[in-house]
This record gives sequence, C-alpha cells and structure tokens, in this order.
Amino acid sequence: MHVLVIGSGAREHALLVALASDPKVDRLVIAPGNAGTAAIAEQRDVDITSGPAVTALARDVEADLVVIGPEVPLVLGVADAVRAAGIACFGPSQDAARIEGSKAFAKDVMAAAGVRTARSEIVDNPAGLDAALARFGPDAGEAAWVVKDDGLAAGKGVVVTADRSAARAHAAGLLDDGHPVLLESFLDGPELSLFCVVDGNTVVPLLPAQDFKRVGDGDSGPNTGGMGAYAPLPWLSREATAGIVANVVEPVAAELVRRGNRFSGLLYAGLAMTSTGPAVVEFNCRFGDPETQAVLALLESPLGQLLYAAATGGLSDFGALRWRDGAAVTVVLAAENYPGRPRVGDVIVGAEADGVLHAGTALREDGAVVSSGGRVLSVVGTGADLEAARTDAYRVLDSIRLPGSHFRTDIALAATEGRIRL
Ligand code: GLY
Repeated sequence: MHVLVIGSGAREHALLVALASDPKVDRLVIAPGNAGTAAIAEQRDVDITSGPAVTALARDVEADLVVIGPEVPLVLGVADAVRAAGIACFGPSQDAARIEGSKAFAKDVMAAAGVRTARSEIVDNPAGLDAALARFGPDAGEAAWVVKDDGLAAGKGVVVTADRSAARAHAAGLLDDGHPVLLESFLDGPELSLFCVVDGNTVVPLLPAQDFKRVGDGDSGPNTGGMGAYAPLPWLSREATAGIVANVVEPVAAELVRRGNRFSGLLYAGLAMTSTGPAVVEFNCRFGDPETQAVLALLESPLGQLLYAAATGGLSDFGALRWRDGAAVTVVLAAENYPGRPRVGDVIVGAEADGVLHAGTALREDGAVVSSGGRVLSVVGTGADLEAARTDAYRVLDSIRLPGSHFRTDIALAATEGRIRL
C-alpha cells in the first residue's frame, strides 16, 4: 500500500512512524513534512490547502491512501477532492469537518444528539460584549470566563481566566481583528482527549489521553497548541471510557449520519470529567497534537490497515485494536518566546535521538537541523508505567540542545502521584 500523509508536525511524524511498522505499507510519502520526516518518508512539497494540488500529488505517487493530518485542509474540503478522484482518503468531508470548523454547527449537533457541553454564546459586536460577559464567569457564579476565537486558532485563541479585565481584553482584541468571540461556561474537572476512528455509525476508540495546554508548569501562563501528553489514563476506568463512546461519540456520529454529513476519519472528543459526569469541551475533526505522539506509541494494530479500513467502509470488520502494555509520555520542546512569536533558525543538537519526533524543524543547506516554528520537537518516552515513561522522555530531552528553548517538567506528574481523582 502506498500512503501519502499531508502535514508537517510531530503528529504527522508519529503517524509516519506507526505507518512504517505496518507490513502492508510499502511506500510512504509526506508533504510537506519537516527535517525529521525526511528520514522516514519521501518528502514532497504541496499546497496543503489545495484539493487539486493534493490530488495531483496523490496521483503522482500512486497513493492507495491519503491521510490528512491538520484541520485546515479538511475544513477547506481537500478530502472531498481526493475522494472525488477515486483515491481512498482518511479524513472527513468539508461538511462533516464543520464539527471542528464551526462551533455553532458543533453545538447544534450536540444538542440534537443529547450530548452535554458547555453553555455558550457567540458575540460578534463589541456593543454586546459587556452584557454577554455578565452572563458567564464569576459574574454568573462560575470559576472563570472561557473566551475563545470562534474560528480555527490552533489552541492559541483560548483564554480561561477569573480576571474580568483579561477576559474582556482578549474578547475585545478578537473582535477588533474581525473574529467573532465564543463565550462558554467553565467546565470543572480533569480534561481528557478521546480519539475515535469513525466511519459513519462505526466508532473505534483509541486509548484516552490527556494533554497540557498551558505553557508553564502547574498550568501557568497562556494557552498553546499543547505542551505534552500521556496515555493511557490511570484515573479513567474502561467502563468510563466505554460510557463516553456510547453516550457522547456514537450519538454525535449517528447525528452526523442523520443530517447527511456522515463522518469518516478521526473524531476527537475533548471532554471535562465534571462532578456531574462527562461534558464536551470541543470536537475536532483530526488527530490531536501532541496526544497522537503518545497514543500511537502504544498501538500494536497496523495503523495503515486501520485507516484504510475506515476510508473504504471496512471499519466494522476490522476487529478490536491491540495495544502494548505500559504507558507513553510526550513532552514538547518549544522555541524561545512560544506561544508568542517564536525565535527560529537555531541549530538543534540531539534531534536525531530515538523517540524524537520533529515539528518546527528544517534542514539548512549545510545539513544542520534548525528550528523553524514554535513547537520544535516532541520527545516520546515509553515504559512499564507512567513514571518509567516520564523518566524515559525527560532523559532524552536532557540530551537535546536548542538555545532559548523551554519545556514543561510536569507532564503526567499529577497522574503518577495519584493526584487526579474523579
Ligand atoms: N491537543 C489539542 C489539539 O490537538 O487541538
């Protein structure tokens, strides 16, 4: 099977590593990729937002399967173009990708499916902002305001704060830039990400994971695209996971089928385990980053065959997934000043170590690997338990050098210390 992966992050590097171990995959191509993916797959250039360009590349490399990593091409309908050319594609149609691309659509689907989610309101006019803020956060007896960019913002458009002036400033800034603002009620309780391979009504869950969105230890500082993750979750029982599949993901998948927006691809449920049960924070239409790096490190079933089955209507016959024992932890090494404007162009030493997945890296003309983005590397550690996986990840991180870089030191720590309770 020839597989073309679209994207350039550590998520796509993790997909390639897992695809390379599938005995049925005999050609791997990545576009556009990064300095690390060049070592594992043929590297091609493409405009990932263009359906015709991705389809032409898929034809050129005789792809049997195209796997689209990021949300932007999915929301723009690139999967539809690939499928229309008769090539199997792992990734939802433009209509189904609205589950991530349009918060109003997602809320509507969840309401119709009877799935619990945060109360919300869209503000698109500065004149209505103060009155709307008064209906949320501490003004409404909740712990914090949750202020989101209503469009795609790679996780960085979210501010969660008990400080009214900070909430207002973020919302006003978004409105000034012409972005509608989504205000949501605050959901208490630990958050988790449950990735499900979906084809219509068939839902196959992967291991649940937890990611760390704030930039600093102890969940301090601004939100990022994600600074680390771990799987599985010692604090979430199998029954609780099965309950989320049955009561959250399957009803949403069925509602999408009912509306004629059948979802085929990766349906990502982000949830908070509140004191009154699970509630959805968001749905995404693709693998999450950096959770994928931890989850796929534990997958034993052949990923190429799994994604091909989902893309071609064979998912219900695929059978139960097999997982390695133990745990995986991924820690993101970020460039100086990330999540602000990152410093780039610095030489990275140690980026070729085992367990290192590349994101914002590029090959300089002299062959040196240099930083080229905010999240530079994801280091994945594995072990018999979370503590061993943490030790493994941080051992590798200690061997990497990148001037000005930073990482969180507490990824999975609370879970290893039994401090997460439902
Ligand atoms: N881990 C957050 C995301 O992928 O959106």
